Amino acid sequence: MPKIVSLVGGRPQFIKEAMVYRAVKRANAWDHVLVHSGQHYDWNMSGSLFDELSIKTPDYFLKVGSGTHGAMTAAVLERFEKVLMEEKPDLVLVYGDMNTTVSGALAAAKLKIPVAHVEAGQRQDPRDMPEEINRVLTDHMSKYLFAPSKTACENLLKEGIREGIYEVGDVMYDLYLAMKPKFNKELRSSLGLEAGGYVLTTIHRDFNADDEKNLTEILKGLLDLSKELSVPVVFPVHPRTRNRIKQFGLEDMAKGLKLLDPVSYLDLMGLSEESLFVVTDSGGFQKEAVFGGKRALVVMEATGWPELVEAGWNCLCPPKAPVISELGLKMAREPMENPPKPYGDGCASEKIVKTLKDSFGPRGE
Ligand code: UD1
Repeated sequence: MPKIVSLVGGRPQFIKEAMVYRAVKRANAWDHVLVHSGQHYDWNMSGSLFDELSIKTPDYFLKVGSGTHGAMTAAVLERFEKVLMEEKPDLVLVYGDMNTTVSGALAAAKLKIPVAHVEAGQRQDPRDMPEEINRVLTDHMSKYLFAPSKTACENLLKEGIREGIYEVGDVMYDLYLAMKPKFNKELRSSLGLEAGGYVLTTIHRDFNADDEKNLTEILKGLLDLSKELSVPVVFPVHPRTRNRIKQFGLEDMAKGLKLLDPVSYLDLMGLSEESLFVVTDSGGFQKEAVFGGKRALVVMEATGWPELVEAGWNCLCPPKAPVISELGLKMAREPMENPPKPYGDGCASEKIVKTLKDSFGPRGE
């Protein structure tokens, strides 16, 4: 049986691996070895998702932890290479745009092991954003490029990549459809929130969280919005952002918001579906909000998911308090129905698994 080593390291990757692994099991497709880099390590950033999404227990845990971009990327590269030399897989599977992704692809490419990239072709300015660097480099090292949308395929063609592009749809949409019956609706009532009576926010990007001025403006914008709408703003806080709030002395300001520890996938989706709308800088959550029928104010200068902005559902927003409150008020007044569905038919994971399984030919039978 062929062997694939799949590398994950953080929340968005666990979510993607969950669906691919289900499809691998269903098709008895290959020997699936799972490696966790350890880029995310807190229980509510990592372990809780493994439990809730029934992800395979990792066969290897590289324990790289946090650090500078160079240190983290180098640690994954070195430790993952050792795993590959031991396991000698037929292919390496990487996901999304994390530091873990680019290190995994580079380690494999240097050993001449083919790479498959899930969520290929997604592009987003600014070009010097860490995630954008990771996306571009990973795509150019990959043999199989599984694109979530037509736009993503076009981006790859524009960069001169001609072979190995498969428009399969978005595995996160697959997960949304599969897990919808399990979304936790109880968290809302246990937090004393009314259905439709709160705004849900997540902010963690380096350009927002690590910049004192931007983070201050965002918190102020959310507070103003909360006052104008007379509803709470619920904010599960990423550890990066929590650290910065403390470091910049913004704790008193943040007290006006309903801060929570990071919540699990099922909790976040349950909260999202009953919110008024969402304010986020997460690549994944700006889509997931729309899957569940909620609009998102996206605190970014550009988005990798332009279809949702073009459809009028999502709205880009600078980190400026008056703009956040003004656009937020508009969003609260203008809820929308029938969300657009540009990211496939919910079978992306099956398509990925079938393509790779077929690529092994008779050896794979
Ligand atoms: C990473 C990804 C980003 C993704 C995000 C999801 C990169 C370059 N970016 O960003 O694409 O959207 O994950 O969360 O890989 N920390 C903890 N505990 C943890 C994890 C992180 O305390 O379990 C803190 C540390 O202080 C760390 C900081 O958060 O330095 C940032 O973590 P890091 O993994 O570098 O980047 P993310 O912001 O999570």
